[in-house]
Amino acid sequence: MATQGGKILVHPLLVRITHWINVVAMLIMIFSGWRIYNASPLFSFKFPVDLTLGGWLGGALQWHFAAMWVLAFNGLAYLLYGIFGGHFKANFLPLTPRAIWNEFAKALRGKIAHEVGVYNAVQRAAYVGVICVIVGLVLTGLVIWKPVQFQGLGTLMGGFEGARLLHFLCMSLVVLFIFVHVVMVALVPRTFLPMLTGHAKTNNHGHGD
Ligand code: HEM
Repeated sequence: MATQGGKILVHPLLVRITHWINVVAMLIMIFSGWRIYNASPLFSFKFPVDLTLGGWLGGALQWHFAAMWVLAFNGLAYLLYGIFGGHFKANFLPLTPRAIWNEFAKALRGKIAHEVGVYNAVQRAAYVGVICVIVGLVLTGLVIWKPVQFQGLGTLMGGFEGARLLHFLCMSLVVLFIFVHVVMVALVPRTFLPMLTGHAKTNNHGHGD
């Protein structure tokens, strides 16, 4: 953990850059995805047009296909750094069901344990979970985009319709994550600035990397 002028580095530059690029790309993917969904809904509802991006199916597809490259390559950079740079090991592990449950039970009693730069077990589980869900989004998206080329993967997902359903499920989980994540940041606002600047005052504990 690096210190600088009474401050500690809690979020490395690469994590911050990829986090905020991911936010922009993911929002474009979600809002354009809702417009694509509206053109051929899976269920008996459509998304309000004002909440969608692209104006029409063709426009929405262009937004979706443009942002998917950003999402995928940015995500890949974060994953490689997380795995080979030791970031995941230092910040997301250890992670046990018991620790997640204890932390969750504490949160229900209104006691959210949060030191800037140290993720509690529920946060760790949520972050690892959303990363897996985003990988799922990309894989199901590949099958929907190129069903012939990714036939093998598609078969594992129950075919084209199965991939569509799973893509929708992953999107719903990401939207749920974003909602809870943003509420948590609003409840513990001192976590916000370090995600921009990287640093926090030394009276808080920092990440292990
Ligand atoms: C697509 C939506 C989002 C996803 C998938 C996402 C995912 C994540 C992940 C995985 C982390 C942990 C990063 C790491 O240490 O490797 C994180 C941290 C964080 N995110 Fe997000 N995020 C999203 C949107 C947002 C938004 C909109 C905000 C602003 C309100 C935000 C604020 C933060 C903050 C402040 C942290 C650090 C939390 C702490 O230090 O306790 N995120 N996010």
